[in-house]
Amino acid sequence: MRSAIRRRNELNATLEARVEERTKALLESQQNLAHAEKMHALGQLTGGLAHDFNNMLAIILGNLEMVSRRRAQNNPDVDQLLSNAMKGTKRAAELTRRLLAYARKQPLSPAPTDVNKTCESVTELLRRTLEASISIECVRAGGLWQAFIDAAQLENALVNLALNARDAMPDGGALTIETANAYLDDDYAARHNDVRAGQYVLVSVTDTGTGMGPDVIAKAIEPFFTTKADGKGSGLGLSQVYGFIKQSGGHFAVYSEPGNGTTVRLYLPRSLSVQEVEEPHGQRPSAAEGSEAVLVVEDDEQVRLICTTALKDLGYAVYESASGAEALQTLERHLDIRILLTDVVMPGMNGRQLADRAVERHPRLRVLFMTGYSRNALFHNSMLDTGVQLLVKPFTVEQLATKIRAVMA
Ligand SMILES: Nc1ncnc2c1ncn2[C@@H]1O[C@H](COP(=O)(O)OP(=O)(O)O)[C@@H](O)[C@H]1O
Ligand SMILES: [Mg+2]
Repeated sequence: MRSAIRRRNELNATLEARVEERTKALLESQQNLAHAEKMHALGQLTGGLAHDFNNMLAIILGNLEMVSRRRAQNNPDVDQLLSNAMKGTKRAAELTRRLLAYARKQPLSPAPTDVNKTCESVTELLRRTLEASISIECVRAGGLWQAFIDAAQLENALVNLALNARDAMPDGGALTIETANAYLDDDYAARHNDVRAGQYVLVSVTDTGTGMGPDVIAKAIEPFFTTKADGKGSGLGLSQVYGFIKQSGGHFAVYSEPGNGTTVRLYLPRSLSVQEVEEPHGQRPSAAEGSEAVLVVEDDEQVRLICTTALKDLGYAVYESASGAEALQTLERHLDIRILLTDVVMPGMNGRQLADRAVERHPRLRVLFMTGYSRNALFHNSMLDTGVQLLVKPFTVEQLATKIRAVMA
């Protein structure tokens, strides 16, 4: 009797040990799988990026090389080559913009927005541009709340979704853009990663196209993931929309049935400010020239050269420094400097520390920061205070001119 109990206990103990061992092995293999999937996605991203970027660099480099050869041959006919090189850089800037959007680091200017109006203007644009075989409907909710969102980027997102819908309906179909007030409850928030319960302005874009299976849905927001033929899809549409919505504090959801169609839902944060919706037709300060002395502080020599050249062209007296420490010395020597144009992220003293010290010594100095990061990312890392003047790279000469005048005003 005793020995029977002991045997049973022993049996239970080995059984437990085996279950534990098996569970551990399963967990391990699951982790390995997740890691392999992550590495695969990273590889795809890096490969896609390198490929696209190389193409653009080839365009820029090739054209510039030909410019220098023609100049060596005293051939002045270089306008077309320069314009091609410029187009290459614009495409590269567009690519980094879309990737920054996915990384939730694009510069955004959210404001209280009437989303019905945005949807209406996008619908109008689509009616003019999409095939006639696609019928377009815009269903706008009455009493719609205002959303706190960057309206221009929202338009951009809706156009991206509409183009995906068009591609999914090669033989025509129906595209519906619909707005509604929506509430995501605690239960929903708990079931979805990264979602806050609360009030949202919902925009849904629905098509009657091919739809997506669960495997495609799972990958659709990865940058460079595309099921379209080479040259047809960049795989950057949904990743950009997703990043934009997340950066804006919203929520993104896809519902699809293969063979029946797709609905993409954008939940935009509700604007709680009582302030009136800003009219987009405000006056824009126009580019202007000036003659004050500007000190350009930038550790990247190429970027510094572009800034100084542009400022000289605009009529400013220009000084330059490659670091914060050097800049402080320049300021001591040249008391005529009125404007400090400085990079934010620099080795050694950063732009903010430089500005603080410079303004302490020269209180009349005006400061303009420039950066490749978004406002939000910088404030998040408490690199800058809100309310400072910031120029986001890459910028045009006109943007630079306008900002400088705004700083002086
Ligand atoms: N409305 C849709 N209907 C069917 N499939 C879609 C839809 N939207 C996106 N997809 C799928 O998701 C993929 C990624 O979309 P996207 O990021 O916009 O890149 P691209 O359009 O350049 O392929 C598409 O290639 C397609 O397979
Ligand atoms: Mg697309």
